[in-house]
Amino acid sequence: LCVKPGDIEKVLLEIKDEIKGKLVISTAAIIPLEFFEATAPLARYVRTMPNIAAMSGESFTGYCMGSTTTLNDKDTTETLLKTMGICMEVEEKYMDAITGLSGSGPAYVAIVIDALTYAGLRVGLPRELSKAASAQSVLGAAKLLIDGIYTPSEIEEMVTTPGGTTIEGIYEIEDGKLRTALMNAVQSATNKCTNIRYKWEKES
Ligand SMILES: NC(=O)c1ccc[n+]([C@@H]2O[C@H](COP(=O)([O-])OP(=O)(O)OC[C@H]3O[C@@H](n4cnc5c(N)ncnc54)[C@H](OP(=O)(O)O)[C@@H]3O)[C@@H](O)[C@H]2O)c1
Repeated sequence: LCVKPGDIEKVLLEIKDEIKGKLVISTAAIIPLEFFEATAPLARYVRTMPNIAAMSGESFTGYCMGSTTTLNDKDTTETLLKTMGICMEVEEKYMDAITGLSGSGPAYVAIVIDALTYAGLRVGLPRELSKAASAQSVLGAAKLLIDGIYTPSEIEEMVTTPGGTTIEGIYEIEDGKLRTALMNAVQSATNKCTNIRYKWEKES
């Protein structure tokens, strides 16, 4: 079930009879499992939060299982979600934070890649070269972490030789408060998600 959150209730009531006894997987932000189970109680539900990288098979998807789901449903869910990236079961109380972090995450990282691309242009690289070098640097660092080869601080340490070039760049990043900006971004997106949910709960 992947309609906009505002359409969920209408669609759920429309398909209520067809989904009896079936497993229904929702991608809708905000809408809690409790709402699905109360609106159409004869189906079993999974709530998920994928991200746009599902289009290239690299989504991070957090999911939580409804109260009537079975172990078999969990297997089915994982099999499906793994076709679009990696997935992890999370407690439902974390779904706002997952939305603010990995749901929106590709947008934050796209800004970083775009900024690096412009930085490359600034130091004279041709556009396509700069774009490829920026995106691949992000992908490469992510792969080193995901493959368990290095931690973020190990990557920083290995690339940063004393008195070298990288430390000059890192100094500017720290001065520009990139870490704080990203932490604030996730905090604000999570807060917004929580606030929309509170408002939605009051109205529904
Ligand atoms: N986009 C993301 O990165 C992302 C990430 C995580 C979660 N989500 C969640 O995924 C859901 C969909 O988001 P989206 O960005 O993919 O939105 P979207 O592009 O607008 O897709 C919504 C889809 O729902 C269909 N739809 C609308 N009303 C319907 C109805 N009454 N019956 C059947 N189908 C109906 C629309 O069909 P028509 O086009 O024919 O109207 C459209 O294909 C949202 O709940 C969102 O919270 C999205």
